[in-house]
Amino acid sequence: MVLSCFMGSTFTQAQPPVDLHELLGKMTLEEKVGQLTQVNAHDSLPVWIQKGQVGSILNEVNPATIAAYQRIAREDSRLGIPLLVARDVIHGFRTIFPVPLGQAATWNPELVEEAASLAALEAASQGINWTFSPMLDVTRDPRWGRVVESFGEDAHLNSILGAAMVRGYQGDDLSSPENIAACAKHYLAYGWAEGGRDYNTANVGEPTIHEHILPPFRAAIAAGAATVMTAFQDINGIPATGHAFWVGDYLRKSLAFDGLVVSDWVSIGQLVTHGYAKDEREATQQAIAATVDMDMQSRLYLEQLPELVKKKVIPMTAIDSAVMRVLRLKQQLGLFSEPTVDYDYPDLLDEKHLETARQMAAESIVLLKNDAAILPLSSDLTVAVVGPLANAPHEQLGTWVFDGKDEDAITPLQAIEEYVPPASLHYAPGLTYSRDTSHKGFDAARAAAQQSDLVLLFLGEESIITGESHSRADIRLPGAQEALVQALTRTGKPVVAVVLAGRPLTMEAWQHEVDAIFYGFHPGTMTGPAIVDLLWGKVNPSAKLPMTFPKHVGQVPIYYNHVNTGKPPTPDSWVPMQEVPQKAVQTSVGNTSLYLDYGYEPAFPFGYGQSYTTFTFAGLTVSSTSWSGDQPLMVEAEVSNTGSRAGATVVQLYVRDHVGSRVQPVRRLVAFKKINLSAGERTAVRFQLTPADLAIFTRNGQMKAEPGDFTLFLGEDVTTDLSVDFTFKPKKP
Ligand code: GLC
Repeated sequence: MVLSCFMGSTFTQAQPPVDLHELLGKMTLEEKVGQLTQVNAHDSLPVWIQKGQVGSILNEVNPATIAAYQRIAREDSRLGIPLLVARDVIHGFRTIFPVPLGQAATWNPELVEEAASLAALEAASQGINWTFSPMLDVTRDPRWGRVVESFGEDAHLNSILGAAMVRGYQGDDLSSPENIAACAKHYLAYGWAEGGRDYNTANVGEPTIHEHILPPFRAAIAAGAATVMTAFQDINGIPATGHAFWVGDYLRKSLAFDGLVVSDWVSIGQLVTHGYAKDEREATQQAIAATVDMDMQSRLYLEQLPELVKKKVIPMTAIDSAVMRVLRLKQQLGLFSEPTVDYDYPDLLDEKHLETARQMAAESIVLLKNDAAILPLSSDLTVAVVGPLANAPHEQLGTWVFDGKDEDAITPLQAIEEYVPPASLHYAPGLTYSRDTSHKGFDAARAAAQQSDLVLLFLGEESIITGESHSRADIRLPGAQEALVQALTRTGKPVVAVVLAGRPLTMEAWQHEVDAIFYGFHPGTMTGPAIVDLLWGKVNPSAKLPMTFPKHVGQVPIYYNHVNTGKPPTPDSWVPMQEVPQKAVQTSVGNTSLYLDYGYEPAFPFGYGQSYTTFTFAGLTVSSTSWSGDQPLMVEAEVSNTGSRAGATVVQLYVRDHVGSRVQPVRRLVAFKKINLSAGERTAVRFQLTPADLAIFTRNGQMKAEPGDFTLFLGEDVTTDLSVDFTFKPKKP
């Protein structure tokens, strides 16, 4: 598997940078509107480009074709304005890293940044200069297909990792040929789609928008995100793509974003479908008035804007502002001064990139269960490899993979075959794909188990039942996988389950029957080697859940940063439904906020993940228990590796604001740090908090910290009980 990542290229003469205002002054109205138009690659594209009717193309990845289009734009069109060339590079280009939800499970911003920079390098080498990533849609709903593309349920984790991804794509210099423009999407509240049904309405209060949905966009913009994409759905009845306040006002003024805003795929035209615009002309007017600068694929800007300007419905200044944002991005990317490159055809796969992908996959797979420390495995075991995800290269890559190749993927079976002697491995898929309902493969699976010391059972979801428009109402293992688990546990052999999915799945029906569970969110090209590293202990698991796992889908939404309610559940307040006495007195059971059948606790909590070693946390202190906020609040604790092997853990710091002008979560993540400790090693971990870390959306509509009593919690997941109290007492102004 070869590789060099670079291409020999022949350059034509570079063009000097242009004066954008002077260029704007030369443009006709049609050419201006052309710059606001993004279209999918299609047959008559060369003519469109030559006529100046296209500012950006998407989904062309052949380097020679891209170079040809750029040459037409630069040399044959009247003004020679180059193209923005966009692609969904969501979790890798040719080298596929874990899906974003898996990247979130690493809690490793440096690694997320590194992976994004490699993805940018690979994409840029083909002539792509813009990706529609990172997706920053916080979501609490595992039914939602696009949870896979998110960094999970927490605003802080989304903010840190989203900013890291932006830095990775864009580097320090957007004009470098190794960097591409990022796109913070989907602005706004797409992850709040009602019922977890993609594209559905998002009814969400302003406090939630400010406290849970906006922070990742604020962080990405602060990290320099060059573009923002509007969402498909409506926000409380007003579609995001036509939202004069959230886009035209709040994004531009409060978030001070003066970069390019692009619609989502024909989402301008969908303003009519929503019932927000009476026709395409009104839809066009609403979008441009909301300062959506570029129309992805609906072609309505091309068709409708000239008329709207000529009839003075839309002022030319609105067009000029949008065009300037497009031209400025092209200038930032160096496109005006970049020579037209005749690419040859580099084979992209690079050993260094694959090594990073392997490391990231291993850091993304969560150890949820390890009864009797059955893991790591000893190397003398005979193993049965079973399950529909054991040898499914396409599935392990995950959704939103346009340029990765199945043949690049190393599956768990292939990696295990490399690792154990042939006589020590018996393979039987049991099911042919994740939705397979046939039991005809079960006998062979049982037989493989009987000939082995232990079963490695690879379960999960095909990639196609995750991702955009692929929401699920029932989030259990699909097909006959639960029956396959039962068939194998009944053999009496120990069973180690490895789940490879695109969302949290409910596992209540079988998780108590198996001895161990690894949970990966489609970990990408190097899934197989990473699994072997973890199973046989070359790598000590360190991943932590970025989403709360429900026991039953009926509990959704279930998330860690919930408010207390006036009747919070407690362990003794739940009488499991089957134990409720018949004709019990109405007020004798269920008087707190819980479900009679499933209680109130998740299957696995936010931030949870086991290790092959143990860590202890102690000595949590703050620099002041009566803090004015004038100086940062210094938080310190001691972390020890009390086990027998080196390992990494994620030190998580949560805060509780006990009394607010609006009720606040029982815990909220404010900081985290991933640390490596050798066996027996002890270290101090320090955090600095400012009043901004305590800010809430107050009753009178401000984001600010309020005086009062607070508690900090520190540990390796949200259930930690190591805490310290302090009072925030700002000095009188
Ligand atoms: C899709 C997605 C968006 C993507 C765009 C271009 O429908 O919603 O995330 O970037 O269209 O493919």
